[in-house]
Amino acid sequence: MKLSIIGTGYVGLVTGTCFAEVGHNVICVDNDAAKVKMLQAGGIPIYEPGLEELVKKHVASGRLKFTNSTAEGVQSSDVIFIAVPTPPQPDGSVDLSYIEKVARDIAAAMTSYKIVVDKSTVPVKTGEKVTETIKRYCAAKVEFDVVSNPEFLREGFAVGDLMKPDRVVIGTSSQRPVAAMREIYTPFNAPIIVTDINSAELIKHAANSFLALKISYINAIATVCEAAGANVQEVAMGIGLDERIGRRFLNAGIGFGGSCFPKDLSAFIKIAEQIGYDFKLLKEVQRINADQMERFVKKITDTLWVLKDKKIGVLGLAFKQNTDDVRSSPAIDLCQRLQKEGATLRVHDPKAMDKAKALLPNATYVDDMNAVAEGCDALVVATEWDEFKQLDLTRAKKGLTHPILFDGRNLFDPAEMEKLGWIYKSVGR
Ligand code: UGA
Repeated sequence: MKLSIIGTGYVGLVTGTCFAEVGHNVICVDNDAAKVKMLQAGGIPIYEPGLEELVKKHVASGRLKFTNSTAEGVQSSDVIFIAVPTPPQPDGSVDLSYIEKVARDIAAAMTSYKIVVDKSTVPVKTGEKVTETIKRYCAAKVEFDVVSNPEFLREGFAVGDLMKPDRVVIGTSSQRPVAAMREIYTPFNAPIIVTDINSAELIKHAANSFLALKISYINAIATVCEAAGANVQEVAMGIGLDERIGRRFLNAGIGFGGSCFPKDLSAFIKIAEQIGYDFKLLKEVQRINADQMERFVKKITDTLWVLKDKKIGVLGLAFKQNTDDVRSSPAIDLCQRLQKEGATLRVHDPKAMDKAKALLPNATYVDDMNAVAEGCDALVVATEWDEFKQLDLTRAKKGLTHPILFDGRNLFDPAEMEKLGWIYKSVGR
């Protein structure tokens, strides 16, 4: 099928590329000329495992094209996906101005029937607004349908999540676009749920806030475990093997971050408020997440006492492993708190150092993770990168003034660390 994607951020770029991989002809639109040029040359502006190869492959195959022109995208495709940012506003609500602008641009360019699909994460009832806007601004007065098709990919695993989705949600108020939407997704072999637009939009916010709730739940359990002398990982395993609960997203740590969970939680709380429901449960999820960071910083200050003039090595800057994304990263938040207390930092991240420099200019960036500990008073693990488990502990121990490790992601085994002579503090164990 002929598809266009407006917006080549994480969601737009990965979606367009994976659509090309299953055989569709895709044209991706972005208003950033430099980005389009880079993509046309087969380069990518983000780090996402497996993506660059696929972009190169389909730029070469001719199934993936990039342009600055929305009109070109709209006129050369049957189905147009909107994948532009929906950033938070200071009061927690969502800024829908990019969506509104794109809806007007699409409307102005339409000369025949089109299916306009919203992929961006939006508040419930946005589809209704997009429909109204397109009707109002479509000079050619052609027919169209608006569909909600939320995205469930995780950064760092985006290509895999998109190629093998758990489910595909199609929200529409008319039968007309259903066959085309099914055709687009048939190659992905996933269960397809066809529902109304409002339910589809709600599914996205309900899914993300439930996952955030799961993390806050296990973080609260971690606090109880610490007080009770229990081990949160054993508890997570014990409850997670119950299929109704599931083991995934039960990793305790310094809390969740990123460009989705914090923003989507605030938005969902705000949307609920606007339609008359005080979502106290989700407010508590936010509170526990904020607390988790406070408690971890306290663990560090309880041990090191005064941080002024202390040098701390930090492993991890990205908001989670397998990404270079530092937006709302708990690791960056932690570093800033430590600096505020007077500590100087030596930091390392396998992929996120370049992007971190803007947020954390006054730290020493170390290319080799095994060299981070040199001359430091303590080492901190802030992101759950798998490679940190391979840290040369002997060398790190030699580099530190005292072998102290604060593990905010529970990567090491407490008994093992104690045997090796470390003062080792993790979360909920
Ligand atoms: C999240 C959802 O998982 C995706 O399904 C969704 O499509 C996406 O948001 C989105 O709305 O676009 P993402 O933000 O990429 O994906 O990251 P996650 O893998 O969900 O991790 C979020 C945060 O939770 C990270 O800071 C991670 O370290 C933390 N986390 C995750 C934990 O602290 N414990 C866990 O057990 C799992």
